[in-house]
Amino acid sequence: MSDLSKRDQKVVWHPFTQMKNAKLPIPIVRGKGALLYDEQNNEYIDAVASWWVNVHGHAHPYIQKKVSEQLLTLEHTIFAGFTHPWAVELAERILKINPADHSKVFFSDNGSTAVEVGIKMALQYWWNKGVNKTKVIAFDNGYHGDTVGAMSVGGRGVFTAPFDSIMFDVIHIDVPDGSNNSHVIQQFSELVASGEVAAFIYEPMIQGAGGMIAYDMEGMNQLMKIARSNEVILIADEVMTGFGRTGKMFASEYYEVMPDIMTLSKALTGGTMPLSLTTCKEYIFDNFISEDKLKTFFHGHSYTGNPTACSAALASLDLMENPDFKDNITRVHQQHQKFATTLRSISNVKNIRLVGTIIAFDVITDEKDSYLNNIRDVLYDAFIAQRVILRPLGNTVYILPPYVITNDQLEKVYNVIIEVLSSIHNKG
Ligand SMILES: Cc1ncc(COP(=O)(O)O)c(C=O)c1O
Repeated sequence: MSDLSKRDQKVVWHPFTQMKNAKLPIPIVRGKGALLYDEQNNEYIDAVASWWVNVHGHAHPYIQKKVSEQLLTLEHTIFAGFTHPWAVELAERILKINPADHSKVFFSDNGSTAVEVGIKMALQYWWNKGVNKTKVIAFDNGYHGDTVGAMSVGGRGVFTAPFDSIMFDVIHIDVPDGSNNSHVIQQFSELVASGEVAAFIYEPMIQGAGGMIAYDMEGMNQLMKIARSNEVILIADEVMTGFGRTGKMFASEYYEVMPDIMTLSKALTGGTMPLSLTTCKEYIFDNFISEDKLKTFFHGHSYTGNPTACSAALASLDLMENPDFKDNITRVHQQHQKFATTLRSISNVKNIRLVGTIIAFDVITDEKDSYLNNIRDVLYDAFIAQRVILRPLGNTVYILPPYVITNDQLEKVYNVIIEVLSSIHNKG
């Protein structure tokens, strides 16, 4: 047993982990590309890009260089009343690639806070205007983070049950899946016709932590058109889908209607530093400009606009401008396509979905499809035993790798999945 793991167990409370009888955490001491190494120098393939952030792989030399130069220059500065070149350049470059003609960037630290900022911007927009629009529509089963506002707009269930009494009311609707479109669209139309709906928040194309659920493009286009014509603010949560994950730079680019507010984090810094951005259209920002101090957006975090994080994001954007970035996304997608064909021939697999660099499927078990399905731990342990990091969401297995993962590494991940599926099938 590693000394580090034992020391950890005495003092650390891990995220999303039932600590009773928790397995000792694997002590990771370095990384390179798609690989992580433990104290004994065993290598693990990081097939989930360390919670979907490390798109350029671990310990990327270019990002390392830029961040270390930054640390020698300016590590941090207060951002209220002050600015610095790295935040300004980052805002300029993000707005340049923003597909929705946004004109302002608000900085925060992680996906959840970017969502909090987006919701608060939308609600205060109407408050500043003196219009009584206070309701928010969100998708059932969505996931937008773990702070209370972000939880409120997420699907209600196992993650949120203890906090039911403190979350604000949100109207949850089903995602349009092609078969239920007319029902969902009608429900949505009736809700927004009340004139009380301030905003509609969604994960474009695919719900992430809710189970990698890809949904119907046309149904979504319809919902967004109805929202737009009823003056409902559209908030696209691109925390997971942003920066190439779905094939295009932003998943919003697949739709006919663009969001008014967009949240970004995760791959923003290539997995180097915590940072997030909430961008918005000029008309939203304009409504906060006033002689009346109450109309100010009173929101900020100690590390807002942290220069070190900004320079990591700038380095990550540089790498994204290199043709290798797009080529790798296409390559990973094509490899996944071949794997999808193999998966179709496996009897305990159903619902294969492939979106850009994400491939997901459900394992057929005797239990119902759920985050609490007991097959989850069996799968996780079997993958880890083969030194492949995959974190099934219940009986949903997904691969969401760094884009730099090699074809050989992907092959290994696929083969381990096939082996594990066959072993549980034989046991069952
Ligand atoms: C779509 C989406 N929004 C928000 C979040 C929350 O991000 P963070 O974990 O950085 O707070 C996540 C995290 O998985 C996410 O997938």
